[in-house]
This record gives sequence, structure tokens and C-alpha cells, in this order.
Amino acid sequence: MNNITLSTFLQKQLDYSKIDRNLLLLLNTITNSCKKINSIIRNGNESDIFSESNTINIQGEQQKKLDIIANELIIKDSECISCLAGIASEEVETIYEIPNSYTKGNYLLLFDPLDGSSNIDVNISIGTIFSILKIYDNDGYITENSFLQKGKKQIAAGYVIYGPQTNLVLSLGEGVLFFILNHDNEWILKEEKIIIPINTSEFSINASNMKLWDSKIKQYIEDCLTGTDGPLNKKYNMRWVGSMVADIHRILRRGGVFLYPKDSNSINGKLRLMYEVNPMSFLIEQAGGLATNGTESILEIEPKKLHERIGVILGSKLEVEIIKKYYL
Ligand code: AHG
Repeated sequence: MNNITLSTFLQKQLDYSKIDRNLLLLLNTITNSCKKINSIIRNGNESDIFSESNTINIQGEQQKKLDIIANELIIKDSECISCLAGIASEEVETIYEIPNSYTKGNYLLLFDPLDGSSNIDVNISIGTIFSILKIYDNDGYITENSFLQKGKKQIAAGYVIYGPQTNLVLSLGEGVLFFILNHDNEWILKEEKIIIPINTSEFSINASNMKLWDSKIKQYIEDCLTGTDGPLNKKYNMRWVGSMVADIHRILRRGGVFLYPKDSNSINGKLRLMYEVNPMSFLIEQAGGLATNGTESILEIEPKKLHERIGVILGSKLEVEIIKKYYL
């Protein structure tokens, strides 16, 4: 595949009427914002932006200065391009309405500006996750309800991982695209259709929560740990980065299953449905994997609140099917 840039790829999608001009502009804008975040992270050691701010976000979490910088940067870059009816961010309690000084569009942008930010100061991969929805009856007035759409309604979803490499993983609903950021600060298309291996022997869970899990997850993990002597009859490996973007990226590249189930501590789960679990589930299923809360497909879940949390199991198709059997 010769070095096609993201801009060239999106222009072709426009030429073939696969996307409209506003979506092209929105995707170019978001991914340019991520280039800026990447540059700030890579030069972060020269300032104290990796340190904690003195603020707590809507999630009740201590914010890093970089959380705030990334959040404000994405909002500032995208509110003025006349493509959006509104914005929702992990870092902001209410929906962000586009100021009247700007022309509104009919897309909705939802994002986690810096997922895994508790890892920023120890040089572990972090990322930006985004999800794009559309409104069809845009009388210019939106509410939180405008955002509460099932994950299967996403027009596009993606993430940028700021790791040893900076990669963009994006889906427009016709497979999963993989881009690298090259030395000229251009997104270069490397793969047009990532496919997750259907099988795996690698699970990803925060095992320190074991005493909090329900019996089904406990039994599955125990069966994994008994390996070839147990009912699953294969030796498993475990990986847990503590940064969803990094764990999901590994799974997209080499297979695996990621579990962050609800537990007796986090009775609805820890991860947020609208701007973490839905976009990641969209990508995983577009790559041939599966995403469930144990009993329902994530992408079919009817959201009730903007910041609602959900338990999630996603990854290699046959392994997720095995786990679903524990819920029967
Ligand atoms: P944060 O952005 O506060 O670091 O949270 C990251 C999320 C997600 O990226 C990761 O999979 C999960 O929290 C890790 O949770 P634990 O710290 O409970 O393992």
C-alpha cells in the first residue's frame, strides 16, 4: 500500500459519496487535534503538564493538567468548523453546546480526551478516544437526549494511542483502518481492514478486583488459570496495562479478550459507555470481534445517561462466545 495520507483517504471517501464534506472536515480536525496532543506529550517533560491539577472531574477523579489541556484543545478546534450540533466529553459534566457565534452542523462528537491518564507520569501508553453520532432533526436545539443513541448508531469511531509509536485506529462503518504518524507529522494508512484473530489464549483484566467479581467472571478466570488441566483446555497468558486504549490496541493487533466487568464496588462497571466502551466496541466488532456486557451486545444497549458506566467483555469472537456461556 503506497503511502496514502488520511486526508487523501478521506477525500476518496467523499469522492465516492461514502462520507459527506462535514464528516471529512470533522475527522481531519479531530485527528489534527490529536497530533497537537501527541506533540505536547512528547515535549511534556520540559514542563509540569504531567502533574496533577487541583481539580476533580465529573467522574470524581483527580484531573491531570494534560486531561484539561487535551479537553480544551479538542473543543476549541472542533466547535468552530460548522460541523457539530454539540460535544460531550468525559471531562465535562454537561453537554457542550456550540456557541451561537458559530454555525452548527448535524454531527455530535463524544470523546475521552486522555484515556489512561493515571499513567501519564510513568510513561505508559495513553490515548484519545472519540465517537461520532448524527442528529437528523436538527432544529439547532440539542439536549443530553440527543446524545443517548445506541452504539450501533455511531457514524465513526476511533482512537489515537500515544505510545512508542503514535497510531490512529478508525472505522467509518466499513472495517477498521490503521494509520501511523510519520516523521512529517502525517497520518499514513498502513492497513485498510484490521481483523482480530478469532481465537485467543490471552485475557486482560485487573485481577486485584477478583474478590469483587460475580461468580461467572470468577469461574471463567479460574478456568483460564487451570489451563490445560481445566475445562478450557489451553494455557492462558494475562496482560493488563491499565490504559484501555493500550489493551484494546494489543487485542486489535494480536487478539485477546478484555474484561472490565461490573463488580460489588463498581455496581455499573467502571468504564463509561458513551465515549469509551461504545467506540471501542464499534471498532472491535468492525474488526470481527464481539463486545458484550455478558448478556447483551454493547452496541444494542439503550443509553440512559451521558456518563453512565457499564461492565464490558470484548475481543476475539470465539473467546467472548465462551465467556457468554458462563452467563447462560
Ligand atoms: P484513567 O483514565 O482514570 O486512568 O482510567 C483509565 C481506565 C481505562 O483506560 C482502564 O482500562 C481502566 O480505567 C483501568 O482501571 P483500573 O485502574 O481499575 O485497573
